[in-house]
Amino acid sequence: MIKYSGPKKIKTAVFISGTGSNLKNLIKFSKQKKFPISIDLIISNNAKAKGLIYGNNFKIKKKVFNFSNKIIAEKKILSVLLKNKIKLICLAGFMKILSKSFVQKFDGKILNIHPSLLPKYKGLNTHARALKKNEKYSGCTVHLVNSKLDSGKIILQKKVKIYKNDNVETLSKRVLKQEHKLYPAAIKRLFN
Ligand code: GRF
Repeated sequence: MIKYSGPKKIKTAVFISGTGSNLKNLIKFSKQKKFPISIDLIISNNAKAKGLIYGNNFKIKKKVFNFSNKIIAEKKILSVLLKNKIKLICLAGFMKILSKSFVQKFDGKILNIHPSLLPKYKGLNTHARALKKNEKYSGCTVHLVNSKLDSGKIILQKKVKIYKNDNVETLSKRVLKQEHKLYPAAIKRLFN
């Protein structure tokens, strides 16, 4: 792993597909003097991702790539990452699975946040599945990305209690609140 020895921050790209609340939160943290990363690039597979607005608001370069051909998209992304001297990738609600060869090129330098207590509930619809199974707890996990879905080394995890009257909306809202604490904490743990 890259070590942060300040004052230069680790140049980071955040990959999003939707709302971008984790992106917004990471941008906010990156402004702190002692936070180890700077957000220099936003990448999305979805031109309509709401989170792209934070590129305008915070004057961060943003790029959209069409994933109908993943090989071509990833090739273009890699060249943009190199051009911008990006050393770390934070996936934050990015809904595409990166290829093995892409992950290998950024080996140990891609983080993801997942809304479950991994290794439980890899993949999609985690909250609905946890509720259906009458789990007592859900939560979120920040992990390194390897070539298997939601399976890389876990950096940090936070449990969130599931209440009897919870539904997908209430539970996801509560978990998301914890995600906004967990992602920056995991980054600090890795680099400070
Ligand atoms: C989060 O729950 C994240 O864990 C999951 O997708 C959601 C993204 O939310 N991978 P946002 O776009 O950061 O608001």
